[in-house]
Amino acid sequence: MCGIIGYVGKENAVPIIVSGLKKLEYRGYDSAGIAVCLKSEKNEKDELKNWFKVVKQKGRLSALEKCLQAKPLISSIGIGHTRWATHGEPSDVNSHPHMGSKNKIAVVHNGIIENYRQLKERLLNKGIEFASQTDSEVIAQLAEYYYNGDIMETVVKVASRLEGSYALGIMCLEQPDTLYAIRKDNPLIVGLSEHGNFIASDVPAVLKHTNRVYYMEDEEIAVLNRDTVEFFNIDKEPIQKQIETITWSPDSAEKGGYRHFMLKEIMEQPRVVRDTVQSVLPGLNSENRTVIEKINIGDYDKIVVTACGSAYNAGIVGKHVLEKMCRIPIEVDLASEFRYKSPLVDSRTLVVLISQSGETADTIAALREAKSLGAATLSIVNVVGSTIAKEADFTLYTSAGPEIAVATTKAFTAQLILLYVLSAEFAVQSGRLSGEEHRWLFDEMLTLPDKITQILEQTDDIQKYASECVGYKSIFFIGRNIDYSIVPEGSLKLKEISYVHSEAYAGGELKHGPISLITEDALVVALSNSERLFGKIMSNVEQVISRGAKVLLIGNCPYEDDSGPVCAKISHIDIPQTLEYFSPSLSVIVLQLFSYYVAANKGLDIDKPRNLAKSVTVE
Ligand code: G6P
Repeated sequence: MCGIIGYVGKENAVPIIVSGLKKLEYRGYDSAGIAVCLKSEKNEKDELKNWFKVVKQKGRLSALEKCLQAKPLISSIGIGHTRWATHGEPSDVNSHPHMGSKNKIAVVHNGIIENYRQLKERLLNKGIEFASQTDSEVIAQLAEYYYNGDIMETVVKVASRLEGSYALGIMCLEQPDTLYAIRKDNPLIVGLSEHGNFIASDVPAVLKHTNRVYYMEDEEIAVLNRDTVEFFNIDKEPIQKQIETITWSPDSAEKGGYRHFMLKEIMEQPRVVRDTVQSVLPGLNSENRTVIEKINIGDYDKIVVTACGSAYNAGIVGKHVLEKMCRIPIEVDLASEFRYKSPLVDSRTLVVLISQSGETADTIAALREAKSLGAATLSIVNVVGSTIAKEADFTLYTSAGPEIAVATTKAFTAQLILLYVLSAEFAVQSGRLSGEEHRWLFDEMLTLPDKITQILEQTDDIQKYASECVGYKSIFFIGRNIDYSIVPEGSLKLKEISYVHSEAYAGGELKHGPISLITEDALVVALSNSERLFGKIMSNVEQVISRGAKVLLIGNCPYEDDSGPVCAKISHIDIPQTLEYFSPSLSVIVLQLFSYYVAANKGLDIDKPRNLAKSVTVE
């Protein structure tokens, strides 16, 4: 994972890099570091003696900031890194930037070098001493080993030796005004501003300074000076690239007065749902609509959805809705498993990849596997220009805007909308839905933003209830049918940010095992949005109550509190009525808020949960 940034320009690089790293901290927060190039006065031989100053600290970025406040640095060029440890424990010495042993070349790296052991062995045999246990230091040492005065040549040589994935920012003392960058299988953008130029792992890191960026492709080399940016291919030939204008506003990557990005992002969901539905409205001349109209479900015998984490959970809801509306077989696979299971896909399969970042390593691998088997690929992605978006045959973009909190909320909600839209389109194409019913589904989808707003206006009730739940060691989420499709996301959200053990089960499965764990210490969160199954889920609720559990009932089914002994153990959160298919989009808002407030009551670092990172670019 990890986030990298670099700057060269008229301003002091240090605060620019630190504020960029803040926006990249979602990619890892085990340690952070910065390297700048300092220039000395000319000596008597009229020589400039430049040197690198490197400051790196284990722990959150705030630890690095403290060091930089204690001993401020000024330089017009620098590179920075925020780390999610893979090779070597989180420590000062394993933090980036890494230097060659002659301190001539400094490198920041996002990715994994798979052949680092062999490379390190060779360099050790040549007497080169290593300071860290990381795979990344090998890159800096190798670069210094090859360096013969031509840094471009060095970058090309190093790239030819590396196996694995990398996005690299490189500085060389002998060219103290130039930044070099190259990538393979990890994201990297180049940003242009009035006062200088940037490299970064992601757009939010530079959004405060510019909305003009280039997306780098694999094995392209970027050479950045204060006023110029040039690109070369791996044969060192100049190449022309298309500049992109980012439509996200600089405020969209700020907390905007909220205590956490996660809460801000939860609150943004009415807007996100509206924008996402509007991006695919029939008759619209939009990118998303054009893509939808290119896909003909008659060309496929089945759909396979593959993704990781919450995006996988969105796929579970998608399967439920797609299968019911279109009567097409749908499989949902974890992307990390997909390529190892000899997937049954061929040219008659539509493989749908779902990913907020568009950079999840397992999802990229699943996409490539599906393509190699001849399947058509459709991605649902939030980050424009990301690897998955670019490599899939068709791409639909969610209109969530930048998502910073590690636990996804608004991107998940937007993914659900696009899956509903696909269901409606495919149902029309396969003759299962009339034009009128199709319009009606869109009308109903357009009511969701107001219904979400109604839920967001009840946060006090949810907050109060969550504050009473802080002590539970185990929380079970249950539902049936459509509600069963959304409980995994409720359970995942709670685990991720509050560290409370939780499980998601079909209501009817409790009696086949998990009920043995139900005691007075358990809370059961039960969903009830299917009128025909209300009686069934209530039987499950009674079964757990009679074993001592407390229950939080969430749903739109009419529930009367008659103050009887069962009801005394049930708390109820009502949600607005909607079509059963779309109820996950409302239930999930309550589940997100519940998890958020449980974690907030425990005083946890909600935006950066323990051991997690948002963009998982390692397998
Ligand atoms: C991480 C994040 C999750 C996300 C998953 C997949 O685990 O913490 O929020 O759902 O990766 O990420 P993607 O970017 O592919 O949606």
